Amino acid sequence: MSSPNSSPTAQGNHKQYEHILFEVRGKVGLVTLNRPKALNALCDDLFKELNEVMARFDEDEQVGAIVLTGSEKAFAAGADIKEMRNTNYLGNLRNNLLGHWTKITTVRKPIIAAVNGFALGGGCELAMMCDIIYAGEKAKFGQPEIKLGTIPGVGGTQRLIKAVGKSKAMEMLLTGTWMMNAEEAERAGLVSKVFPVDQVVNEAVKTAEIIASYSQPMVQMAKEAVNQSFELPLASGLLFERRLFHSTFGTNDQREGMGAFVEKRDPKFTNS
Ligand SMILES: *[C@@H]1O[C@H](CO)[C@@H](O)[C@H](O)[C@H]1NC(C)=O
Repeated sequence: MSSPNSSPTAQGNHKQYEHILFEVRGKVGLVTLNRPKALNALCDDLFKELNEVMARFDEDEQVGAIVLTGSEKAFAAGADIKEMRNTNYLGNLRNNLLGHWTKITTVRKPIIAAVNGFALGGGCELAMMCDIIYAGEKAKFGQPEIKLGTIPGVGGTQRLIKAVGKSKAMEMLLTGTWMMNAEEAERAGLVSKVFPVDQVVNEAVKTAEIIASYSQPMVQMAKEAVNQSFELPLASGLLFERRLFHSTFGTNDQREGMGAFVEKRDPKFTNS
């Protein structure tokens, strides 16, 4: 991948993948889905590669946040239908078809999806597995599985309703024809910000840099607490949050952050 800002590091680029590109820019890990001929259709091998790179970034102490993007035409236009059309129920049960497609939800560092063009089916679901979605002005979100005689299989029916509410989620899922454009997606809360097409990735990297500049244990706790809100009843979620909050007072970074605030200087976080 070439870019004026890119600075491949030791772990960057020495392993070649077939379907994705990755690099480290400063403290940000950038992953680009790269199956241009197939509009980034999501195949099983792509997820194997994606999971490997994400795990690597999750472990890499230099990386504080991750940006996941596709091309200007498509973030990902859907699952690779050719790959799955001739599979059958018992085989898919045995092989746990799509079982590893949601592994990205276990990554502990924040992930920003920078979406241009189509985010359809598995592409929309993949974007929703990320923590923040930025969209280019021409982005389109949809869950057209119903048109193919199936339904979403990696969270579309579960995550979409939390993002946009029942009526919009049902209309997208049941008609398969209604796609949300970037502006609608922002209004509905699926997307946090919309940018011109050529700026989405840079804006996502800028935001990721801000996140990566903070104390990493705190960033991780904040993400973990929000993630738990999807699972836990309110009282348990609040207790979980309170205990994490208490635990931040066992760190150097809390003393440094509050000290710097009171002394009106910039904090120097040490992730300790
Ligand atoms: C988010 O919650 C799910 C469900 O409890 C869990 O499987 C996943 O590992 C969590 N991810 C993070 C990053 O905490």
